[in-house]
Amino acid sequence: MTENRAIPTHVAIIMDGNGRWAKQRGKERYEGHLAGVESVRSAVRAAVRNGVKWLTLYAFSTENWGRPAAEVEAIMELFCRTVVGEGAALAEQGVRVKILGERTRFSASVLEMIERIEATTASGDRLTLVLAFNYSSRREILLAAQSLAQQVAEGRMQAEDIDEQLFASALMTSEMPDPDLIIRTSGECRLSNFLLWQASYAEMYFPEVLWPDFDEEAFDKALEAYAGRERRYGLVNDEC
Ligand code: IPE
Ligand code: IPE
Ligand code: MG
Repeated sequence: MTENRAIPTHVAIIMDGNGRWAKQRGKERYEGHLAGVESVRSAVRAAVRNGVKWLTLYAFSTENWGRPAAEVEAIMELFCRTVVGEGAALAEQGVRVKILGERTRFSASVLEMIERIEATTASGDRLTLVLAFNYSSRREILLAAQSLAQQVAEGRMQAEDIDEQLFASALMTSEMPDPDLIIRTSGECRLSNFLLWQASYAEMYFPEVLWPDFDEEAFDKALEAYAGRERRYGLVNDEC
């Protein structure tokens, strides 16, 4: 079924629409986040099955701290519970987990859970699951600029040594390939501070489906759409 089809190495997903999903059912927003955990499991299974090597999920933006305290607390609690509860199953599937984001704002208990799941899944070699949590792409770019400026100020390099490769190596994503496909669920068509540098030549896919309804079939449909795209990177194709 999938022979000869272009499979993206790295799929990144902006998991959006949990609140609307809950509202449509007369439930609290939290119920939407809870239902979204099953979609995370589906996306991981579908990524492994399709041979995708990197799956990045945008779970909590730095701006999301501005939501009502009760919702933020509920998301933190759900994140910790999921990270603790899913570690063994992820390791069994050959999934290595990495957390992407600034860690300074996490409580000691959240930090401990993050470090534990990264350690227990470290040998997974089928898929790297990156959870973007307290992530802000502008902040990431600023921190990279500051660290490079510091090195120039200390005489460790010249300003003109800074090229795209060096800049990318100063980002939090330095070990990751750029995303080939970015999916945002819920019909919104924006990046909301997600992977701004890395998305330069990503294919974008915006299904209407709300995140809790995004199942394995929906993931496969996104890969199908990707396979039909022509990536030109600013060049011209032979038939033109
Ligand atoms: C995405 O769903 C999850 C997070 C941002 C944490 P939302 O909570 O943004 O759901 P909507 O967009 O309000 O429906
Ligand atoms: C983006 O969704 C962040 C995550 C999915 C974690 P938001 O719902 O926070 O984004 P906006 O506010 O609609 O742009
Ligand atoms: Mg939203």
